[in-house]
Amino acid sequence: MTIQWFPGHMTKARRQIEAKLKLIDLVIELIDARLPLSSRNPMIDDILQGKPRMIVMNKADLADPAVSQQWIAYFKEQGHTAFQVDATTGTGMKEIPVQAKLLLKEKIDRQISKGMNPRPIRALIVGIPNVGKSTLINRMAGRNIAATGDRPGVTKAQQWIKTGDIELLDTPGILWPRFEDQNVGYRLAVTGAIKEEILNVEDIAFFATKYFVQYYWEALAERFDLTERPEDIENPDEVVNVMEAIGRKRGCIVSGGRVDLEKASKIILRELRAGKLGRFSLEAPY
Ligand code: G4P
Repeated sequence: MTIQWFPGHMTKARRQIEAKLKLIDLVIELIDARLPLSSRNPMIDDILQGKPRMIVMNKADLADPAVSQQWIAYFKEQGHTAFQVDATTGTGMKEIPVQAKLLLKEKIDRQISKGMNPRPIRALIVGIPNVGKSTLINRMAGRNIAATGDRPGVTKAQQWIKTGDIELLDTPGILWPRFEDQNVGYRLAVTGAIKEEILNVEDIAFFATKYFVQYYWEALAERFDLTERPEDIENPDEVVNVMEAIGRKRGCIVSGGRVDLEKASKIILRELRAGKLGRFSLEAPY
């Protein structure tokens, strides 16, 4: 899903989440483990108004495990609870109720000390498009919940989904990504979270190729049978040379023996997104 965010959309999204905050005890902030900052909403702290929150790094199966550990340490330093999951298989998701109870321990203990039975924890999932909110909701519910989203004109009663110790709102809070830095757009586009109509496919593949030459050269060289690592990645010609070498290996040749760079770009992005170049992270905290 691609949403073009305009100021009106942002205000509406923010109001919708603020209305839901009144109903819940806890927010599950979902981000993409491969690009934890770029896949976060820039105003999240402000929007959540101090509501207890856990940061769940989804798509951990695709991310570089060493870098993900650095991110967990980074978020802990900032006073947050953060851990990794893979919502497609459910790996790591047992941690959600465990951490929820820890975050709300004082409240739960208060209820118990008053002789009350602690009521289920009510939670809302929030995140930018494509981080895996629907996948996580369906996993937690153990069934497919219709993906209604928050569409204008569609009014629907909020449903609570019972999932063990947590009751989850059936519609997630959808937030906008950061825009201030162009690299954020490229990182999101490399993962497929921003569609290629918005950014040029060759530019996205250029960004990805440059990053892989710098941080994951061996995976790139092995996949595309490359031998010559560019010496100066700040020289755009050298990065384009790598893209052309990949294009030649894959038969993306047009008349005159020229490499069809658009075709080569699509191959690079497709294989990278399909995990053919292994696990990777597109930003690191340190
Ligand atoms: P959203 O509600 O936040 O917008 O995201 P959604 O659940 O629709 O998930 C977006 C894509 O990410 C889906 O792929 C989904 O299968 C995939 N996904 C979600 N969680 C994980 C995870 O933990 N690991 C992996 N590997 N993939 C995950 P899709 O159906 O192919 O959609 P698309 O890629 O065509 O957009």
